[in-house]
Amino acid sequence: MSDPPAPVRVARPDDAPDVVALRALVHPYIVRGVASTRKMIAEPSPGEHWTAFVADVDRAVVGWVSAYREGRTSTDGFGCVSLLHVHPDHRGRGLGSALLTAALDHLAPLGIRRVRAWALDEALPFARRHGFTPGRELRYSALELRSVPPPPPAAPGVRLLPLADVGPDELYPAVRAAAVDEPGDVPVDAMSYQSFRYEIWDNLGLDRQASTVAVADGKGAGEEAADEGVVAFSLVKRDGDRMWSDYTGTVPGHRGRGLARPVTSQWSCLRELG
Ligand SMILES: CC(C)(COP(=O)(O)OP(=O)(O)OC[C@H]1O[C@@H](n2cnc3c(N)ncnc32)[C@H](O)[C@@H]1OP(=O)(O)O)[C@@H](O)C(=O)NCCC(=O)NCCS
Repeated sequence: MSDPPAPVRVARPDDAPDVVALRALVHPYIVRGVASTRKMIAEPSPGEHWTAFVADVDRAVVGWVSAYREGRTSTDGFGCVSLLHVHPDHRGRGLGSALLTAALDHLAPLGIRRVRAWALDEALPFARRHGFTPGRELRYSALELRSVPPPPPAAPGVRLLPLADVGPDELYPAVRAAAVDEPGDVPVDAMSYQSFRYEIWDNLGLDRQASTVAVADGKGAGEEAADEGVVAFSLVKRDGDRMWSDYTGTVPGHRGRGLARPVTSQWSCLRELG
């Protein structure tokens, strides 16, 4: 692939502080700090051909986009253009289109035939003009932790533990099983152990004390509850005093037992975490 025309260039690890500052302006709800962003650029997700471009105007990062093959699905030829955004003062000058072109030019030789992107409401006309069709609505909710009631007790035969008390091999089967019916444009049915390690377990933002797992002792009520190990989890990432509820899941055979609420309210009540 030839280099994109200036001012768009491939992102560098040292862009991380500027990328985080720009993202905080356009997508203030996202929690991903400088160290984690630097690592994402320096050591991208294996097997996904992940790359990112920035718009660099007078040595200031004023635009960002990343592009990769979606590695968590068995659906062939499916890619993502993620978080395309341009600083509000630099819009309407072709930077968004140039970043999008660089992203799509990166994906085309990989055999990607369908691409998912995320757009704010205000950017839907731009996305439509570039050939995207609105599909699903994504919503984020904010929670002020001081107002969270105490957690309900866990179901019989289940213990709640901080993620720090289990290993990756115990969490991986639960994450994989819970993801199978995750709502989305393509099934999340092919998350490799390598990708789990990269995205979740080795993620610099993962808070292992606040993230909580529900572990069954194999003696729970009902036939479907008879297995042992991690049966529900709530994973959170942190940057300073902000936390991102990254992924809460219950293994299909254990749904309807009231496990999701105790795992999530466990971390939300940990006021001593600051
Ligand atoms: C969507 C977004 C990335 C567009 O960024 P941008 O830099 O303003 O994009 P462009 O300048 O390339 O295109 C915007 C308009 O400016 C016009 N334009 C003005 N001057 C231009 C120039 N010199 N060259 C090319 N286009 C120019 C384009 O024709 C385009 O008009 P159109 O939307 O009617 O086609 C930006 O609005 C944004 O960050 N939005 C919030 C984040 C978001 O939701 N992103 C999702 C994108 S799918």
